[in-house]
Amino acid sequence: MKLTYFGHSCFMLEKGTDKILIDPFLSGNPFFTGSLSDIQPTLILVTHGHGDHLGDAISISNKNSIPIIATFELANYCESKGATTIGAHIGGKVLFDFGWVKLVNAVHSSSSPDGLFTGVPCGFVVNFHGNKIYHAGDTAIFSDMLIIGDLYTPDIALLPIGGHYTMDIEEAVKAVEFLKPKKVIPMHYNTFPPIKNDPELFKKEVEQKYPGITVEILKPMKCLEFEKITK
Ligand code: NI
Ligand code: MN
Repeated sequence: MKLTYFGHSCFMLEKGTDKILIDPFLSGNPFFTGSLSDIQPTLILVTHGHGDHLGDAISISNKNSIPIIATFELANYCESKGATTIGAHIGGKVLFDFGWVKLVNAVHSSSSPDGLFTGVPCGFVVNFHGNKIYHAGDTAIFSDMLIIGDLYTPDIALLPIGGHYTMDIEEAVKAVEFLKPKKVIPMHYNTFPPIKNDPELFKKEVEQKYPGITVEILKPMKCLEFEKITK
Protein backbone atom coordinates (compact mmCIF):
# COMPACT_ATOMS: atom_id res chain seq x y z
CA MET A 1 0.00 0.00 0.00
CA LYS A 2 1.29 3.40 -0.94
CA LEU A 3 0.49 6.92 0.27
CA THR A 4 1.86 9.65 -2.00
CA TYR A 5 1.98 13.33 -1.03
CA PHE A 6 1.60 15.88 -3.80
CA GLY A 7 2.05 18.84 -1.45
CA HIS A 8 -0.53 21.09 0.23
CA SER A 9 -3.43 18.74 1.19
CA CYS A 10 -3.28 16.41 -1.80
CA PHE A 11 -2.60 12.71 -1.25
CA MET A 12 -3.07 9.53 -3.21
CA LEU A 13 -3.69 6.15 -1.61
CA GLU A 14 -2.88 3.17 -3.79
CA LYS A 15 -3.14 -0.57 -3.57
CA GLY A 16 -3.55 -2.82 -6.57
CA THR A 17 -6.05 -1.20 -8.90
CA ASP A 18 -7.53 1.05 -6.18
CA LYS A 19 -6.30 4.63 -6.31
CA ILE A 20 -7.93 7.22 -4.10
CA LEU A 21 -6.99 10.82 -4.75
CA ILE A 22 -7.78 13.29 -1.95
CA ASP A 23 -8.11 17.07 -2.46
CA PRO A 24 -6.51 17.08 -5.93
CA PHE A 25 -4.99 20.56 -6.03
CA LEU A 26 -2.43 19.82 -8.77
CA SER A 27 -2.62 22.61 -11.40
CA GLY A 28 -1.20 25.69 -9.70
CA ASN A 29 0.21 23.68 -6.78
CA PRO A 30 3.87 24.77 -6.56
CA PHE A 31 4.82 21.41 -4.99
CA PHE A 32 3.32 19.27 -7.76
CA THR A 33 6.09 18.64 -10.27
CA GLY A 34 4.51 15.64 -11.97
CA SER A 35 2.29 15.44 -15.00
CA LEU A 36 -1.46 15.73 -14.55
CA SER A 37 -2.06 13.01 -17.16
CA ASP A 38 -0.18 10.50 -14.95
CA ILE A 39 -2.68 10.98 -12.14
CA GLN A 40 -5.36 8.40 -12.83
CA PRO A 41 -7.38 7.74 -9.69
CA THR A 42 -10.34 5.39 -9.41
CA LEU A 43 -12.00 7.57 -6.76
CA ILE A 44 -11.68 11.23 -5.74
CA LEU A 45 -12.43 12.68 -2.31
CA VAL A 46 -12.90 16.43 -1.89
CA THR A 47 -13.14 17.97 1.59
CA HIS A 48 -14.58 21.33 0.50
CA GLY A 49 -15.02 23.68 -2.44
CA HIS A 50 -12.02 25.99 -2.02
CA GLY A 51 -9.76 25.98 -5.05
CA ASP A 52 -6.75 24.60 -3.18
CA HIS A 53 -8.79 21.44 -2.39
CA LEU A 54 -11.32 21.01 -5.22
CA GLY A 55 -8.38 21.63 -7.56
CA ASP A 56 -8.56 19.46 -10.68
CA ALA A 57 -11.26 17.14 -9.30
CA ILE A 58 -13.88 18.07 -11.87
CA SER A 59 -11.65 17.78 -14.93
CA ILE A 60 -10.17 14.45 -13.73
CA SER A 61 -13.67 13.14 -13.05
CA ASN A 62 -14.97 14.31 -16.41
CA LYS A 63 -12.23 12.56 -18.35
CA ASN A 64 -13.04 9.01 -17.24
CA SER A 65 -16.26 9.31 -15.21
CA ILE A 66 -14.31 8.92 -11.96
CA PRO A 67 -16.64 9.44 -8.99
CA ILE A 68 -16.09 12.35 -6.60
CA ILE A 69 -17.23 11.91 -2.99
CA ALA A 70 -18.15 15.19 -1.32
CA THR A 71 -20.85 16.66 0.88
CA PHE A 72 -24.20 16.99 -0.89
CA GLU A 73 -24.04 20.61 -2.07
CA LEU A 74 -20.45 20.36 -3.29
CA ALA A 75 -21.27 17.10 -5.08
CA ASN A 76 -24.20 18.86 -6.79
CA TYR A 77 -21.90 21.69 -7.81
CA CYS A 78 -19.42 19.21 -9.33
CA GLU A 79 -22.24 17.39 -11.08
CA SER A 80 -23.46 20.66 -12.60
CA LYS A 81 -19.99 20.90 -14.20
CA GLY A 82 -20.32 17.42 -15.69
CA ALA A 83 -18.58 15.37 -12.99
CA THR A 84 -19.66 11.95 -11.74
CA THR A 85 -20.43 12.26 -8.03
CA ILE A 86 -21.39 10.47 -4.86
CA GLY A 87 -23.04 13.08 -2.67
CA ALA A 88 -23.01 12.08 0.99
CA HIS A 89 -22.88 13.94 4.27
CA ILE A 90 -21.25 14.26 7.69
CA GLY A 91 -21.75 11.04 9.64
CA GLY A 92 -22.32 9.04 6.48
CA LYS A 93 -20.27 6.02 5.49
CA VAL A 94 -19.90 5.00 1.84
CA LEU A 95 -18.96 1.35 1.34
CA PHE A 96 -16.49 0.05 -1.25
CA ASP A 97 -14.67 -3.21 -1.95
CA PHE A 98 -11.53 -1.68 -0.38
CA GLY A 99 -13.38 -0.73 2.83
CA TRP A 100 -15.25 2.52 3.41
CA VAL A 101 -15.14 6.29 3.37
CA LYS A 102 -16.63 8.14 6.33
CA LEU A 103 -17.42 11.86 6.22
CA VAL A 104 -16.65 13.67 9.47
CA ASN A 105 -16.84 17.24 10.73
CA ALA A 106 -14.43 20.01 9.87
CA VAL A 107 -14.58 23.54 11.26
CA HIS A 108 -14.11 25.74 8.19
CA SER A 109 -16.25 27.00 5.28
CA SER A 110 -16.93 25.83 1.75
CA SER A 111 -17.51 27.76 -1.46
CA SER A 112 -16.59 27.10 -5.07
CA PRO A 113 -13.82 28.98 -6.92
CA ASP A 114 -16.59 30.93 -8.74
CA GLY A 115 -18.05 32.04 -5.43
CA LEU A 116 -21.02 29.69 -4.98
CA PHE A 117 -21.93 28.30 -1.58
CA THR A 118 -21.06 24.60 -1.49
CA GLY A 119 -22.45 23.50 1.86
CA VAL A 120 -20.32 22.55 4.83
CA PRO A 121 -16.73 21.28 4.66
CA CYS A 122 -15.76 17.82 5.89
CA GLY A 123 -12.88 15.56 6.76
CA PHE A 124 -12.63 11.90 5.75
CA VAL A 125 -11.73 8.69 7.51
CA VAL A 126 -10.86 6.11 4.88
CA ASN A 127 -10.64 2.45 5.73
CA PHE A 128 -8.37 1.43 2.90
CA HIS A 129 -7.68 -2.30 2.83
CA GLY A 130 -7.60 -2.34 6.65
CA ASN A 131 -5.56 0.81 7.31
CA LYS A 132 -7.54 3.78 8.55
CA ILE A 133 -6.43 7.16 7.31
CA TYR A 134 -7.95 10.38 8.64
CA HIS A 135 -7.66 13.40 6.33
CA ALA A 136 -8.78 16.41 8.37
CA GLY A 137 -9.34 18.77 5.41
CA ASP A 138 -9.09 22.43 6.37
CA THR A 139 -10.10 22.74 9.99
CA ALA A 140 -9.49 24.25 13.37
CA ILE A 141 -9.21 21.85 16.28
CA PHE A 142 -12.57 20.73 17.68
CA SER A 143 -13.34 18.46 20.61
CA ASP A 144 -15.27 15.95 18.46
CA MET A 145 -11.87 14.82 17.25
CA LEU A 146 -12.03 12.77 20.44
CA ILE A 147 -14.99 10.88 18.93
CA ILE A 148 -13.12 10.38 15.66
CA GLY A 149 -10.21 8.98 17.68
CA ASP A 150 -12.40 6.71 19.81
CA LEU A 151 -14.72 5.40 17.10
CA TYR A 152 -12.44 5.11 14.09
CA THR A 153 -8.99 4.68 15.70
CA PRO A 154 -7.08 6.18 12.77
CA ASP A 155 -3.72 4.61 11.97
CA ILE A 156 -2.54 7.72 10.16
CA ALA A 157 -3.77 11.30 10.68
CA LEU A 158 -3.15 13.89 7.98
CA LEU A 159 -3.36 17.23 9.80
CA PRO A 160 -3.05 20.84 8.65
CA ILE A 161 -0.38 22.78 10.57
CA GLY A 162 -0.03 25.98 8.51
CA GLY A 163 -2.26 28.21 10.62
CA HIS A 164 -3.98 31.33 9.25
CA TYR A 165 -6.81 29.37 7.54
CA THR A 166 -6.58 26.21 9.64
CA MET A 167 -5.02 24.79 12.80
CA ASP A 168 -1.51 25.89 13.59
CA ILE A 169 1.10 23.74 15.31
CA GLU A 170 -0.24 24.42 18.80
CA GLU A 171 -3.75 23.20 17.92
CA ALA A 172 -2.49 20.34 15.75
CA VAL A 173 -0.40 19.02 18.66
CA LYS A 174 -3.52 19.01 20.83
CA ALA A 175 -5.51 17.34 18.02
CA VAL A 176 -3.03 14.45 18.08
CA GLU A 177 -3.95 13.88 21.74
CA PHE A 178 -7.64 13.64 20.74
CA LEU A 179 -7.10 11.43 17.70
CA LYS A 180 -4.46 9.04 19.10
CA PRO A 181 -3.18 7.93 15.68
CA LYS A 182 -0.07 5.79 15.28
CA LYS A 183 1.42 8.13 12.74
CA VAL A 184 0.86 11.78 11.82
CA ILE A 185 1.69 13.49 8.55
CA PRO A 186 1.54 17.31 8.55
CA MET A 187 -0.06 19.06 5.55
CA HIS A 188 -1.33 22.48 4.40
CA TYR A 189 1.87 24.40 5.18
CA ASN A 190 4.51 26.36 3.22
CA THR A 191 2.44 26.42 0.00
CA PHE A 192 1.73 30.15 0.34
CA PRO A 193 3.35 32.82 2.58
CA PRO A 194 0.45 33.05 5.11
CA ILE A 195 0.71 29.33 5.93
CA LYS A 196 4.47 29.19 6.39
CA ASN A 197 5.34 26.89 9.27
CA ASP A 198 8.02 24.49 10.48
CA PRO A 199 7.04 20.80 10.34
CA GLU A 200 10.19 19.88 12.32
CA LEU A 201 8.87 21.89 15.26
CA PHE A 202 5.56 20.03 15.03
CA LYS A 203 7.40 16.70 14.92
CA LYS A 204 9.50 17.59 17.94
CA GLU A 205 6.52 18.65 20.03
CA VAL A 206 4.34 15.65 19.15
CA GLU A 207 7.05 13.06 19.65
CA GLN A 208 8.13 14.61 22.96
CA LYS A 209 4.59 14.79 24.27
CA TYR A 210 3.17 11.50 23.02
CA PRO A 211 5.67 8.63 23.15
CA GLY A 212 4.76 6.01 20.57
CA ILE A 213 3.27 8.43 18.05
CA THR A 214 5.56 9.28 15.17
CA VAL A 215 5.41 12.27 12.86
CA GLU A 216 6.42 11.54 9.29
CA ILE A 217 7.33 14.70 7.39
CA LEU A 218 6.54 13.59 3.89
CA LYS A 219 8.28 15.64 1.21
CA PRO A 220 6.08 16.58 -1.75
CA MET A 221 6.14 13.98 -4.56
CA LYS A 222 7.38 11.36 -2.06
CA CYS A 223 5.49 8.36 -0.80
CA LEU A 224 5.19 6.17 2.23
CA GLU A 225 4.90 2.43 1.63
CA PHE A 226 3.47 0.12 4.25
CA GLU A 227 1.32 -2.93 4.75
CA LYS A 228 -0.09 -2.40 8.23
CA ILE A 229 0.81 0.72 10.18
CA THR A 230 2.26 -0.17 13.55
CA LYS A 231 4.44 2.76 14.65
NI1 NI B 1 -10.25 26.02 2.65
MN1 MN C 1 -7.04 25.22 2.15
